[in-house]
Amino acid sequence: MMPGGFMGGAKDRLLPVSVPFRFFGAAAFFHVLAWLTLLWGADDLPRFIGGPGPVLAALHLMTLGVLAMAAIGASYQLLPVATRQPLARVWMARLSFWLFAPGLLILALGMSGEADSALWPGAILACAGLLLFALLTGDNLRRAGSLPIVAAHGGAALVALLGTIAAGLLLIGDFSHGYLADHASVAVLHMGVAAFGFMGLLVFGYSLILVPMYLLSRSVPTRPGWLQLGLGVAAILLFAAGRLMALPLLDVFALLIGLAAAATYLVLMRAAWKSAMRRRQGLSFVLLRAGWAGMVLGLLAGLVLAAGIDIPNGPALFGWIVLVGWLLTFVTGILQRIMPFLASMHATGRGGKPVRVSDLTAELPLRIHAVGHGLAFVLVALGIVLDLNVLVQLGAVAGLAGALAFAAFAGVVIVQVYRLGPPS
Ligand code: HEM
Repeated sequence: MMPGGFMGGAKDRLLPVSVPFRFFGAAAFFHVLAWLTLLWGADDLPRFIGGPGPVLAALHLMTLGVLAMAAIGASYQLLPVATRQPLARVWMARLSFWLFAPGLLILALGMSGEADSALWPGAILACAGLLLFALLTGDNLRRAGSLPIVAAHGGAALVALLGTIAAGLLLIGDFSHGYLADHASVAVLHMGVAAFGFMGLLVFGYSLILVPMYLLSRSVPTRPGWLQLGLGVAAILLFAAGRLMALPLLDVFALLIGLAAAATYLVLMRAAWKSAMRRRQGLSFVLLRAGWAGMVLGLLAGLVLAAGIDIPNGPALFGWIVLVGWLLTFVTGILQRIMPFLASMHATGRGGKPVRVSDLTAELPLRIHAVGHGLAFVLVALGIVLDLNVLVQLGAVAGLAGALAFAAFAGVVIVQVYRLGPPS
């Protein structure tokens, strides 16, 4: 059994407030930029099957800029608290940000097709930031004796991150040199390893500590946790083998095993919910649940496609459900809990009194975000299937409105944490 209340004595292991919050603030910024870029590339989205252009830029602003950025901020702050091991070097965490965030902006410019010469400088900077994150987090996880299951998920996710980076760099080189025999297959491999291996395994692992913590559940059983990891890793390895050996049939088996991993994960989340001392979870849990539905729907859509059944604009729809329906929904749901929660740990309030989490959040912008995000997901998905650009455009506008509201929420939290706590 894993302890749900792992935060005991956590204040001692808090990083300077500026470290995690620069990542969360940047995630909110890239979120807005991603929807804006998607609006720009809306006409290309339904038939998108890869290649440079605004859609590729928007995809990476969303995946690297929001999903990875939030995961990095959360890892830097929450892992030292959960593992009771301090981060080796705080300046390295800061440096990773200053490589990754500007690198990503330059990379996105290169990917948009507007400035090819920006591709390599952007990729090198962004990947250097990611590698520094992998080094710091790998070191922390290696010392995480008390949470072997979370450490194992994190370790596997970091290996997948290395694979993602390697494939991403290979693809960029191939744009100008054309050395890959099957560029499209490597792109699919890159997407699968990034979304399911890197982000998916991080979500699986961190959920084991974050979800029980927010629900105030007593425990989550450990054995199914190992099973979800084993199944998840097996699915990704099988999928990678299928790509590398040009055996697309293996995708079907990989997706079936992936569905079994997802089912095990949902059983664990249900166990946390059943032993919860706090059942009223508000909007963030609505988003987490919607994200879980997106995870299952995405895997099912992948299975239908892998079985050779035709869905109109199937590849774009599959990517949309996995990246936005599952991962972006889940990550924005978790972020809206993590940010006020960490802020309350930092903020001391006047007279040294503790500050309530509810004083550090902003409900209205979060409601606007949830509505905008939900609408955007449905409208764009319909636009992809019906091949109707106008629906994609409307969806991107709704997503943009939601992202602006989310940025307002993030702004409120950041201003409050600096107002109430000693800035560092
Ligand atoms: C969380 C990390 C990442 C995610 C989730 C991700 C996701 C994706 C997705 C969904 C695609 C479209 C796949 C397709 O064409 O079928 C893609 C393509 C691509 N990615 Fe990434 N990516 C990530 C990181 C990176 C990084 C770090 C780089 C650069 C080093 C990179 C470079 C590329 C390139 C060059 C393509 C274009 C492939 C093509 O020609 O279609 N990606 N990525």
